[in-house]
Amino acid sequence: MPRLPLIIDTDTGSDDAVALLLAAAGGLGDIHAVTTVAGNVPLRTATRNALISLEVAGCPQIPVHPGCGRPMMRSLSSAQHVHGEDGMGDIGLPEPSTLPEDSHAVDVLLSYPRRHPGLLTLVTLAPLTNVAAALTLDPLLFSRYRHVYCMAGAADLAGNISATAEFNVWADPEAARIVTRAATPDKVTWIGWDVSRQDAVMTASDQQRLLDIGTPMATFAHNINRTVADWARDVTGLPGYDLPDPVAMAVALDPGLVTRQERAHVQISVADETRGQMIVDRRVSAPAPNITLVRRVDEAGFKRLLFDTVASPVPHPTYAGASLGETPVPHPADAGAPIDI
Ligand code: BDR
Ligand code: CA
Repeated sequence: MPRLPLIIDTDTGSDDAVALLLAAAGGLGDIHAVTTVAGNVPLRTATRNALISLEVAGCPQIPVHPGCGRPMMRSLSSAQHVHGEDGMGDIGLPEPSTLPEDSHAVDVLLSYPRRHPGLLTLVTLAPLTNVAAALTLDPLLFSRYRHVYCMAGAADLAGNISATAEFNVWADPEAARIVTRAATPDKVTWIGWDVSRQDAVMTASDQQRLLDIGTPMATFAHNINRTVADWARDVTGLPGYDLPDPVAMAVALDPGLVTRQERAHVQISVADETRGQMIVDRRVSAPAPNITLVRRVDEAGFKRLLFDTVASPVPHPTYAGASLGETPVPHPADAGAPIDI
């Protein structure tokens, strides 16, 4: 099966790291670039963690481009109380042996799909700052991607950072609002925390299974989620820690895992009292849908993909660029020659 050409935007903390393993080593994805943004941790730490994760997956050659260091209109409120001071469970990981690229994440988000119109899938696992910045420069950006999947929101209004909001949207609600206003449901799919807490919880037996698998990737995936497991016990009350970014990545890699979805008109609150809350209009008279919301995922299928991926003793090599061998499809909005921004 051809691998899915990907760009991944991440604020790499412990669950982003597992999502990167899935994309890099699961045999379904072909990562062309990783872009980083401040979120779970400050930008420099997110970039470090992305480099480490790709190295663990056996793909140190994948370029990592640092992006925005703070939300559009607010200061950074990180999730280090969830993922650890270093975002990776504070287990003393060694520094990566690779370095980030010089070119900015926003330039990558803009220029890659212009070079390969309609071929790349963008998966966002973080506050939407980089993506919103790119949209302000290119309002037609989403039409240039094959599809855009975002781990974002909580369609049932059960939040993980506030009573009603999900972290990625709450962290930069102005950016999320820009994204919803540019989105169309055939191009943009959100997988929210409602999906994660129902269908992607690593129970005690799932955690034991990771330990029993015992490969470097399985052990890494288990150990870096140490502080998230404590947080889940104390805050969410779920029967284990959940994996929001990996389940979103799994949907992008294998949309057949989705068991329930809806198209809806979504707005984002930027008001103080309801910061980051997702307002889903389900009235008959609602404006036209702007986003496809995944609501449930095949839990067994997701976990099978996860366990199979990390069980691989020698990670699958990625073949960066190989899946873009097709003739680029010109986009109607591309009047002139593709630009390198
Ligand atoms: C999201 O917030 C972050 O803490 C996770 O990495 C995930 O992207 C879940 O709400
Ligand atoms: Ca994340």
